[in-house]
Amino acid sequence: MLRSANCGDLRLSDADSEVTLAGWVGRRRDHGGIIFLDLRDRSGVVQVVFNPDPLAGSGLSPESAHTAEELRQEWVVQVKGHVRQRPAGSENPAMGTGDIEVMASDVAVLNRSLTPPFYIADDAGADESLRLRYRYLDLRRPAMQQNLILRHRVVKYIRDFLDAQGFLEIETPILIKSTPEGARDFLVPSRLQPGSFYALPQSPQQLKQLLMVSGVERYFQIARCFRDEDMRADRQPEFTQLDLEMSFVDQEDVLSLTEELYTGMIETVAPDKKLRKPFPRLTHAEAMARYASDKPDLRFGLEMTDVTAMASETEFRVFHSVIDSGGCIKGFVAPGLAAYTTSQVRELDAFAREAGAGGLAHIRYRGTGPVAEQNEEEVLQSSGLRMPAEWHGRLAAKMGAGPGDMVLLMAGPSHRANVWLNAMRNHIAELLELADPNELAFAFVTDFPLFEWNEDANRWDSSHHPFTSPADGEEGLLDGDDLGAIRSKAYDLVCNGSELASGSIRIHQRELQEKIFSILGYSREDVGERFRQILEAFEYGAPPHGGIAPGIDRLVAILAGTSSIRDVIAFPKTQSGTDLLFNSPAEVAPSQLRELSIRVTD
Ligand code: AMO
Repeated sequence: MLRSANCGDLRLSDADSEVTLAGWVGRRRDHGGIIFLDLRDRSGVVQVVFNPDPLAGSGLSPESAHTAEELRQEWVVQVKGHVRQRPAGSENPAMGTGDIEVMASDVAVLNRSLTPPFYIADDAGADESLRLRYRYLDLRRPAMQQNLILRHRVVKYIRDFLDAQGFLEIETPILIKSTPEGARDFLVPSRLQPGSFYALPQSPQQLKQLLMVSGVERYFQIARCFRDEDMRADRQPEFTQLDLEMSFVDQEDVLSLTEELYTGMIETVAPDKKLRKPFPRLTHAEAMARYASDKPDLRFGLEMTDVTAMASETEFRVFHSVIDSGGCIKGFVAPGLAAYTTSQVRELDAFAREAGAGGLAHIRYRGTGPVAEQNEEEVLQSSGLRMPAEWHGRLAAKMGAGPGDMVLLMAGPSHRANVWLNAMRNHIAELLELADPNELAFAFVTDFPLFEWNEDANRWDSSHHPFTSPADGEEGLLDGDDLGAIRSKAYDLVCNGSELASGSIRIHQRELQEKIFSILGYSREDVGERFRQILEAFEYGAPPHGGIAPGIDRLVAILAGTSSIRDVIAFPKTQSGTDLLFNSPAEVAPSQLRELSIRVTD
């Protein structure tokens, strides 16, 4: 055995014992011949003292004293020594091992290290591309180790929980065929069948449905998914889902299982988080109306009010042109912001324009008396509004604004106005520090529309994916001309403004599934080519089924308190999809391309 104890585990109760430790050299200080160094392994850090003075009684051999002087950052060493209580006054309460230190008697160098390109510490502040280039060193940082441990615990909890609930963990292929989740596919050329390609799964969606037809009844998988789409802080080209599916269930069964899984998991792996239970449920329509978002951050209020009717009373040209083209005027109350100066308001306006809005209308209720009684001098409004105090009093009553508050309004086609308002709502919450970083405000959003209109492509797309069942009693509307009004049995789990999971009750009848494909514009041949397997399976006794797929990376990122999922993925890619460590994607040898019958053109 190279070691008898872990550095970070040593406590006062270990004092007076002999230990052999192994780990990396961290900070090192030389105090007049006595060397103090932090020795680090996965469990944590302990202070090791090398005192060459024979009178100190540590038994440090002259060779070891000499070696200790040579030690540099990140060298790998084995240290033998005696654990002792630190002298009074030199304890370090910030360290788990801060009550003790190890008086070294021997040290052996197991391996040397070049000087690392950045200091291995949590506050090193190294540039992210350097961190990714040397990811194996970045992962040595205690915070990154904690993230890896947290991720392990989350996945372990999931496995144990679902096992106890009768789920089977089943692996599905990675080399498969296109299964649509709204992104581009990553393709893999087949050598044996030149000109043919596998697609990496965007999700195991069809496979898990086929497993339901197989009679598995309860399936899950910690599934790697691949999507060639534009990247953001919460998106990677390959990511991990907890993919699960159940037979003979309705929406409530899936939601309550998901809620039980999440609450139990968080109470176990992140007990310090503030968790609101039970998770509230909002319909999609309600979420849009109240928060202008289908993934609202519910840690704060700032709820929307539609004031289109009142806005039509104004002379404001912008409002009228929006109303005439079928748009809406909506907004919310920013508490206490009446005191904002003109230049601060201008900054908000600039933020709105950045988000894509034409601008921002505002009213500041500067008076201290009831808003209904505030006069023209006390109520400051955007130029252009030019409304009397009476109107402002009514507006404040409708929107719930009080003295000292500011009302923010935005006008536009409703889907766009919602995007701008959501950005503004989050911005104001940030300015006012309304969101408790330690709180997890989960909610289920249900009753998503079945379809959404794709303006660019001039066609209907699925809001979730084409396998989603229409809401009960709304199938008949598939033959009508208001497809946008059809609701579905799709649901999302959202938390603190991000979408953590998505699922639905599925279609399990061939005829209905074919009808959906035809509405989505798939040709008969296309359907035959891409979906033959699932349509055929539906004809052999497919049970009613449904499921959900929580994103593991986003969940762990939220639990770890980081805004980037890259921090909770061992080897992530950059925003441009590059792996800086392996330097991929990369060109391949011409011979390899020839074997695959592939020619690269400009
Ligand atoms: P969906 O496409 O909504 O649903 O994905 C489910 C969850 O996966 C996570 N996620 C991602 N995480 C990181 N990077 C990405 N690029 C990325 N894309 C998605 C999110 C999201 O909520 N088959 C369906 C699920 C089902 O219907 O059961 C699906 O894949 O957390």
